[in-house]
Amino acid sequence: MTQFKYSKRVPADGTDAVGAILQAAADPKIISFAGGLPAPELFPVKEMKAAVDKVFEEHGQEAMQYGAAKGVTALREVIQQHVKEKENVDSELDNVLVTTGSEQALDLVGKAFVDPGDTVLVEQPTYLCALDVFRSYGANFASVEMDEDGMKMDALEEALKANPNTKLIYTVPNFQNPTGRTMTEERRKQLAELAEKYDVYVLEDNPYGEIRFAGQHVPAVKSFDKSGHVFYMSTFSKTLAPGFRLGWLVADKAVVNKLTVLKQSADLHTDNLAQFAVAQFFADNDVDAHVKEISALYGKRKDLMLEGIKKYFPEGVKYTDPEGGMFLWVEVPGVDDTVELFKECLEHDVAFVPGDPFFAGEVQPGAFRLNYSNMKEDQIEVGLKRLGAALTAAVNK
Ligand SMILES: Cc1ncc(COP(=O)(O)O)c(C=O)c1O
Repeated sequence: MTQFKYSKRVPADGTDAVGAILQAAADPKIISFAGGLPAPELFPVKEMKAAVDKVFEEHGQEAMQYGAAKGVTALREVIQQHVKEKENVDSELDNVLVTTGSEQALDLVGKAFVDPGDTVLVEQPTYLCALDVFRSYGANFASVEMDEDGMKMDALEEALKANPNTKLIYTVPNFQNPTGRTMTEERRKQLAELAEKYDVYVLEDNPYGEIRFAGQHVPAVKSFDKSGHVFYMSTFSKTLAPGFRLGWLVADKAVVNKLTVLKQSADLHTDNLAQFAVAQFFADNDVDAHVKEISALYGKRKDLMLEGIKKYFPEGVKYTDPEGGMFLWVEVPGVDDTVELFKECLEHDVAFVPGDPFFAGEVQPGAFRLNYSNMKEDQIEVGLKRLGAALTAAVNK
């Protein structure tokens, strides 16, 4: 058999821990809180079909032709207006780059800014695919402690002092994946100031910010950025549909220009038809009303989760109570091996994502992520009853 000589960027075999978990949880008898999908019953299929039909009628040839790497102008205008309206971020068209899912924005920023040995500061825990991206460019990580109000700014400043090689601070400030936590406004201001003071960049990843079902909107870190050190990224994946693979980045024009060159060598440009269709969808529909509907459904599901957790989980278990987004985070004291706990839960026909891969450094044992956005209401209580029984057995061992 040929032994392929992969580059150092390619992870060693056996590192797709999450893939293995999702596969284990795919058995139909298992109630799985392990997924991370939006609720498909709220995808605006009919309205999107009408938008696509109109695009074919009005710009069919353009939509099927090669396009610009920065993206379709009509969609970039939608994004420009959207970030102003939702996040009070001023931008010109040249500050906006359309990406193939916001995942590509992570990749392009990693490629453009992270050299092997550079430090990336991340929340503890953080979005695991971001870790994979930065790792592939040779990043060293330093983790910054969080509390219920997001990344702690005193811990961040300490990390900046201790890691003079820091290039980038990565944050998911709204309803973070995996914890569901939200960073306060005061900390966001401090974060923008620290980035300028230490001359490092902030990658503000905001896929969930619009899916708020409780509390008050908190302005983006980018809205406090006076020096261009903050790069803001978001996506249509959670508000419209992930299958279109449409995300975006708003940053200084010089950065957007560099990333555009890198994007060109990655995929030339993002799918033109999807871009035209989403721009058309925005022109013809009340998108805010649609997003409200999503938020209301997720809020209802989150409330059911909390009810079930309170009813069935053993005493001493801690959990977050997110004001939006798709996930909550559970910490079970006295558990040393979360993957072992996961296996025990599978025996009770229930699953979650163990916290381990969300940590860049030392893992916090007994922590795991639960999804509720794609959980049918009647499954939530049954699933949590099973999970509660499994946790009770584990902590009493
Ligand atoms: C924090 C975070 N960032 C980025 C993404 C990527 O999303 P997409 O590429 O669909 O825009 C996700 C997806 O779940 C996410 O949770």
